[in-house]
Amino acid sequence: MAGYFGDNKFKLGLFGLNCSGGCTLSAAPEAWQANWPDIVKVAQMGDEAGIEFMLPIARWRGLGKSWVWEKSFETFTQAAALGALTKRIGVFVTAHVPLVAPVVAAKAIATIDHVTNGRAGLNIVCGWNTDEFKMHGASLDGERRYDQGLEWYKIFMKLLSGEAFDWNGEFYHLENLVTNPLPIQKRPPVMSAGSSSSGQEFAAEAADIMFTTMHSYEQTGDTINRLKALAAQHNRSPDIYVQSLYVCRPTRKEAEDYYYYFAEEHADPEALAYFKRQKSATLAQRTREGSSAADVATITRMRAEGERYAGNFPGMNPIIGTPDDVVEEMKKMSALGLAGGALVFLNYLNELPYFVQEVLPRMERAGLRRKV
Ligand SMILES: Cc1cc2nc3c(=O)[nH]c(=O)nc-3n(C[C@H](O)[C@H](O)[C@H](O)COP(=O)(O)O)c2cc1C
Repeated sequence: MAGYFGDNKFKLGLFGLNCSGGCTLSAAPEAWQANWPDIVKVAQMGDEAGIEFMLPIARWRGLGKSWVWEKSFETFTQAAALGALTKRIGVFVTAHVPLVAPVVAAKAIATIDHVTNGRAGLNIVCGWNTDEFKMHGASLDGERRYDQGLEWYKIFMKLLSGEAFDWNGEFYHLENLVTNPLPIQKRPPVMSAGSSSSGQEFAAEAADIMFTTMHSYEQTGDTINRLKALAAQHNRSPDIYVQSLYVCRPTRKEAEDYYYYFAEEHADPEALAYFKRQKSATLAQRTREGSSAADVATITRMRAEGERYAGNFPGMNPIIGTPDDVVEEMKKMSALGLAGGALVFLNYLNELPYFVQEVLPRMERAGLRRKV
């Protein structure tokens, strides 16, 4: 199952390019505005540098009154456009299960896969923001959302088998299903970033690529082992990734000062407060009797997070330092068994050139990547 995106030992993705604010909660003036010409420049720069994929965020509104995520490009249409403007980088789309019918997703993925000659990927998300779901007239069922997600995934995969069929399940009753064309890839990579126990169980059964949140090396090692064991029960061995905020500068002090400047001095506390408030809809489910240790740990961290660096997105581990520091962290992540990492920068266009120039060659020398 593994082997998506070639054979680099530590693969890289660009995460959150389609949204204002990217994936930080900072109101610094140079924070990412998600202007289309800038997105195209970053996508093409990443493509040329051999970065393996782009992962957008499916959003329907901003974080409360904050400008963060206020503007976001829709992920399926954006992937088709960026796919046509690039040559080899993988393009993910993100589908909210209750908001996109499987037959729509199957046709859209096939379209993008043909446009890109086999570079489409699908992130399946079950949602957490009730304000967004209300915009669609949909309700967010914290208890059953991943059960519906699994049924959605099974319909989607059956469509990709090329069969014509009826579906009578618990959540869906669908007649005469069929899709044409099929994607070029037999199975475009399916990713999931569920972190609740039901989210992890879903990912274990459905995902080729799982994202997990890194707080410490010890915790990440435990999580990787648990995720691999869960997936093995379904005879699957997904690649596991983490998402990180990168601040890379010639000296450690410069990197730390810049991180402090945008993530602390220019933090957007309203965005964090809204995020935590909305997350409580699905977090509450985890406090029920029988919650797993993973769930309890997530809740504890979520409550503590943001107290110092409120501009660092919850769940985004910061990698702050010189190019050598950054590669040392990547070596440790790779040694834990991670297949790679998704990159977040305060401003992708400002930060990516230095990363490409200084970090990628060091990764090559460290055996983490091959020269493009
Ligand atoms: C890398 C990554 C990408 C994600 N993309 C989206 C997204 O595009 N839209 C969304 O609503 N949630 C997104 N999420 C949230 C997850 O789908 C999931 O809801 C979250 O990790 C919490 O886990 P849980 O749903 O099991 O509680 C993403 C999370 C991560 C870590």
